[in-house]
Amino acid sequence: MTNLKRHYLVTCATGNVGRRAVGELLKRGHDVRVFARNRDRLQALIDIGATAVVGDMHDLGAVRAAFQDIDAALLICKGSMNARDYRRDFFLAGENYAIAAGETGLRSAVFVSSLGAHDDRYRGLVLIHGDVEQRLNTVPGLNLLNLRSPMFFEDLFYFLPTMTTVGALTWPIAPDSLIDMGGTADVADVAVERLVALDFEGKQVVEIHGQPGLTTTKIADIISGAIGRPFPVAPSSGEDDVARMMEAGIGRDFSILMNEAWETFSHGLVRESGRPGSRLLPQSIDRFIENVIAPAILAAPRAVAAE
Ligand SMILES: NC(=O)c1ccc[n+]([C@@H]2O[C@H](COP(=O)([O-])OP(=O)(O)OC[C@H]3O[C@@H](n4cnc5c(N)ncnc54)[C@H](OP(=O)(O)O)[C@@H]3O)[C@@H](O)[C@H]2O)c1
Repeated sequence: MTNLKRHYLVTCATGNVGRRAVGELLKRGHDVRVFARNRDRLQALIDIGATAVVGDMHDLGAVRAAFQDIDAALLICKGSMNARDYRRDFFLAGENYAIAAGETGLRSAVFVSSLGAHDDRYRGLVLIHGDVEQRLNTVPGLNLLNLRSPMFFEDLFYFLPTMTTVGALTWPIAPDSLIDMGGTADVADVAVERLVALDFEGKQVVEIHGQPGLTTTKIADIISGAIGRPFPVAPSSGEDDVARMMEAGIGRDFSILMNEAWETFSHGLVRESGRPGSRLLPQSIDRFIENVIAPAILAAPRAVAAE
């Protein structure tokens, strides 16, 4: 079964998860169609053997074109960060995927969801994944795996500006709350493994988790070790963080939803207790900080001035 050559669709194909998934599927000898808006960014994937449909996931016609004649899909949703109603915008992408999957009789898909999507007490950017899961779950005949992922290491980039200007981790999560974080390469690898095995039927959920014991205090300590100087954790208020994100050009609604998610994570780990089959992702955050975050902090002009 796993030796069959299949035709896969990867949405958000030039993003962190998508890009890795495309490479891994091509390496295994499958045909891969990539979907995103920017042809220039897609070119690198075309160069390694993918075919492209250029389009916006909020345009049903474009989504329909992307869904033609595929065996399975990796589904990732995005809203516009400047949308007045980000939740609605994000859902519209899921709605278009659901319509196209129904019309084309798509057999199998993995949706990159979020830990906590099962419970609407978990707010903000967590909750919006629950909306899409619920919609995709209504598509008849679609074998769907909702892959509930932890926060991505890349989320630290939201705080790069204050890491360099304030010289501290200003993430507004309670410093000693346990948080769940994983690498996007690991998330993509789990998605690819399941898309290649096609070992799920009906509507299923799997929770994937990062290495245990992580807090923002611990992240600040790792950063401190990697940049060779003290680096405290100094959480800003949600209000200040929303203002900071808006100054950086991000829309109010997205900034509020993001902070509602931080607030959710301040209350402790977000997971469905007793859910069987959950997976632990191999990569710890240390290497990501050492190879990506620390060099970015050290390269910033303000970081040099602060020394
Ligand atoms: N960040 C987290 O902590 C976290 C945690 C759990 C789950 N997730 C989920 O994981 C998903 C994937 O994250 P990621 O880091 O891989 O995303 P990413 O790197 O931000 O992905 C961006 C990709 O989406 C494409 N894209 C954006 N808007 C689009 C549109 N309207 N139509 C078509 N393509 C569009 C971009 O290409 P173009 O700009 O060229 O279109 C690019 O390929 C997130 O969207 C979220 O739902 C995230």
